[in-house]
Amino acid sequence: MNILVILGHPEQGSLNHAIAEQTVTTLHELGHQVVFHDLCREGFDPGLPGMEISRDAKLPPEIQQHCNELADADGIVIIHPNWWGMPPAILKGWVDRIMRVDVAYRFVGEDGGEGVPEGLLKADRALVFNTSNTATEREQNIFGDPLERIWKDCIFDLCGVREFHRRMFNIVCLSSQQKRESWLSEVRDTVSRIFPSD
Ligand SMILES: Cc1cc2nc3c(=O)[nH]c(=O)nc-3n(C[C@H](O)[C@H](O)[C@H](O)COP(=O)(O)O)c2cc1C
Repeated sequence: MNILVILGHPEQGSLNHAIAEQTVTTLHELGHQVVFHDLCREGFDPGLPGMEISRDAKLPPEIQQHCNELADADGIVIIHPNWWGMPPAILKGWVDRIMRVDVAYRFVGEDGGEGVPEGLLKADRALVFNTSNTATEREQNIFGDPLERIWKDCIFDLCGVREFHRRMFNIVCLSSQQKRESWLSEVRDTVSRIFPSD
């Protein structure tokens, strides 16, 4: 399979980077093709310029390349920390600029944008790894776990990706080295289960 892995975290050496490294290593071991982007390290520009909003916009080459990679992916892995119940801005900007009309979704028939779009992504499964400092019960009962809704419903279901998996690792600030190692082992097992060898 052709798997796209996107990391949104600015700090090398973070748990998020370790999760990304484990993910990419496991996918390679399973024999998959992997396209990996560490958005912060690559200096991805998250601001959507007005000229890119229209359907037939001429895109800068690096943005077109990201769009092609997204369209070619059989599976997608997203990795980021919970920042205010949202992805870090750099990753939100990647969604704005890359998961665009006619790449990730389109409006059908006479629909001028007010209806229910049709998902276009070839990828049939997505996996999201998150980290946070909030206990699961509090995240769900007090905050409503916004990241679940954002990735599962607002993004992947809308874009036609039917199988969705997500794991939030918490509470990171209290975690021991041993705990982090067990999380990375869980990352390996989860990736192997969701993206088995062809
Ligand atoms: C700007 C910012 C906003 C944050 N917002 C939240 C939040 O809303 N909920 C939460 O549980 N943790 C929040 N955190 C804590 C991060 O989720 C936590 O530091 C991260 O998941 C730890 O993983 P890392 O070591 O890979 O950075 C925030 C951290 C930062 C820097």
